[in-house]
Amino acid sequence: MVNVNDEGEEGPLRPGSRFGDCRVERLLGKGGVGAVYLVSAPGGEQYAMKVMRPDIARSDPDYKKRFVHEAEVMMTLRHKNLVTVYDAGEDPEMGLCYIVMEYMPGGSVKDRLCEHGAMPVPEAISIAAQIADALGMAHFHGVIHRDVKPDNILFSADGVPKLSDLGVAKFLKGATSTTETMQGIIIGTPAYMAPEQMMDSSNIDARADIYSLGVVLYEMLTGRRPNGGSTVMGLLAKAIKGEALPDVRTMRPEVSAAVAYVISLMCSPKPENRPETSRAVADLLVRAAADGLILPKKPLRTAIIRRSKTMGGRISSFFRNIADAMDGRSSGREKGKEKGKDDE
Ligand SMILES: Nc1ncnc2c1ncn2[C@@H]1O[C@H](COP(=O)(O)OP(=O)(O)O)[C@@H](O)[C@H]1O
Ligand SMILES: [Mg+2]
Repeated sequence: MVNVNDEGEEGPLRPGSRFGDCRVERLLGKGGVGAVYLVSAPGGEQYAMKVMRPDIARSDPDYKKRFVHEAEVMMTLRHKNLVTVYDAGEDPEMGLCYIVMEYMPGGSVKDRLCEHGAMPVPEAISIAAQIADALGMAHFHGVIHRDVKPDNILFSADGVPKLSDLGVAKFLKGATSTTETMQGIIIGTPAYMAPEQMMDSSNIDARADIYSLGVVLYEMLTGRRPNGGSTVMGLLAKAIKGEALPDVRTMRPEVSAAVAYVISLMCSPKPENRPETSRAVADLLVRAAADGLILPKKPLRTAIIRRSKTMGGRISSFFRNIADAMDGRSSGREKGKEKGKDDE
């Protein structure tokens, strides 16, 4: 099996080489599913090109078919707050699957949080409302993102926030057979996952993205994840108990009660207590920011998820998977890897 590490630090392509019609300029970065390069077309236009990890494709015989199908869907989705996908396919020479998308030179929300910490309140709300609107369009077309996180909100040259990697998280699905990739899925970004996604990621709907966006908004407002420092097991225990997130105002008192209320709705442990659509979230955020939201008199009841029979089954199979994963990572290399991801 080809390991992504075998491709070296720069991933499968070399700067200065050609890929199809494009010239590879430089590596922009590497993520869970592949490497992203800055490329230029013959006319000089610049694009970002994501080349998917070949080992993921190899672990799933249907991968390429699904990849092309999903990419075709992504190409039809256009929104000012969505990174546009222009082209996708499989390179005939190297057999690599790729996606050509809009180049976003302004860095990510994650970069911004790392450099400057918490954002001004109006800016954080504006970013979240715009991303909620983009998600609303995607959800309307039946596409769930599954991996909304600060790394996947990128800025254009003129500072417009855009959601990237729509549909891309799906391509990890075929790789669940190995311990290493299974950990990648669970440990990758659990801090942003809705409780139901942690327990059974195959059976989620748009409300899981709404939860993740609520966590991102919390982090933009406070500079910290609401469950920062929790281990994966700790996060899972909270998900099972149906524990609500702490009030954003304990970390950032200047946030209005209305905005804190919308975040608590978005991050309700039970999906049925969240706003039903992302468009409704965008609307709630805009109204909350403009003091146009009338709050209910009673505080939101913290929902307790009871262990129903089906959920009990899912949880026990989840624990089995975790236990298998832990058995498989007894070597120091695996431990270090997990720690690195957890610490992110
Ligand atoms: N369209 C893009 N324009 C510019 N940089 C990008 C683009 N897409 C991804 N990147 C950068 O490439 C790197 C790897 O991205 P990605 O594979 O999506 O991983 P992740 O989302 O897990 O960070 C990140 O640093 C990301 O900011
Ligand atoms: Mg990304």
